[in-house]
Amino acid sequence: MKRLRLAIVGFGRVGKACAQVMTGSEDVVLVGIVRRPEQVAEKLPPPFSAIPRAAHIGELPEVDAALVCVPVNLAQDTSQSFLSRRIPIVECAILHGEAFQQHHAEIHRVAFHHKVAAIVGAGWDPGALSMLRCLFGLLIPKGHTETSRRPGLSLHHTLAVQSIPGVKDALSTELPIADGKVQRYVYVELASGVDYDEVVQAIRSDPQFLDVETLVFSVDSIASLEDEGHGVVLERRAASGQTGHARFLLEGRFDESFLTAQIMLAAARALPGCKPGALSLLELPLAALWGELAAGIENEYL
Ligand SMILES: NC(=O)c1ccc[n+]([C@@H]2O[C@H](COP(=O)([O-])OP(=O)(O)OC[C@H]3O[C@@H](n4cnc5c(N)ncnc54)[C@H](OP(=O)(O)O)[C@@H]3O)[C@@H](O)[C@H]2O)c1
Repeated sequence: MKRLRLAIVGFGRVGKACAQVMTGSEDVVLVGIVRRPEQVAEKLPPPFSAIPRAAHIGELPEVDAALVCVPVNLAQDTSQSFLSRRIPIVECAILHGEAFQQHHAEIHRVAFHHKVAAIVGAGWDPGALSMLRCLFGLLIPKGHTETSRRPGLSLHHTLAVQSIPGVKDALSTELPIADGKVQRYVYVELASGVDYDEVVQAIRSDPQFLDVETLVFSVDSIASLEDEGHGVVLERRAASGQTGHARFLLEGRFDESFLTAQIMLAAARALPGCKPGALSLLELPLAALWGELAAGIENEYL
């Protein structure tokens, strides 16, 4: 297997997460990190202490691509400066709507001119969540999508669930959904041997929980759930009058920087097969994101 030789540009939250994700990936090598001049001398903790650092990509060994992890206002210029040196890039700047389209078009212009490939918006959102929104839209073409990024903690309901026998710990959140309604998400960490269905029944029959629809999820650890610190609820409902009353719901808690890093790495695997110009994730074949592992995905996911 030919290993992809990558550089990270900007060693902040996403840059560090990219480095960590790369240490666990056999098909990529972290060749070096491009940092601001004043940061180059900073000592990095193991396992990154021996990774070459430079203020300029020209000071590092040759790379197949650069993962651009600089602040959003610098992402375009930085990407373009690499492309003008004919270095393919992956970037993930948090831009949406028209701002994203302009950014995409500008990076495409330079990538195309220098005959090199770029993948833009390759993070969590924009990125993987955009792909999920798009898939929900395909499944329910006429409908309404709600994305909530900050599941709100409800202390009152959390305490109520914590007092149910068999519940070691709990967390209750309330989220606005379509039509101005609210839905409640209750996460429970159960004592061993406790029946999940009985706990769900106890929660649902408590008068405090009768006001809104309540969904109950069993998790291994509430503490680690809170540590992860970031969540999303994506919901798509068919418009009223549509047949089937279809409804899809995705609920997740995660570290956004790590998800972004995973997707940037996946995009880097797709780069060698891309034509010159800039593509977003919605324009790439899904299999391309698996790189050399693509051969096995039909077997596993179809
Ligand atoms: N798509 C997504 O879901 C998603 C999610 C999170 C973040 N992002 C994007 O990822 C990029 C990085 O985000 P982050 O959270 O990692 O940011 P961050 O923690 O602030 O790190 C940014 C890094 O960029 C470098 N940098 C270069 N020039 C800089 C300057 N003038 N001022 C400050 N830093 C400078 C620094 O690295 P050195 O110290 O090494 O120089 C800094 O640590 C942003 O464009 C953001 O929009 C995307």
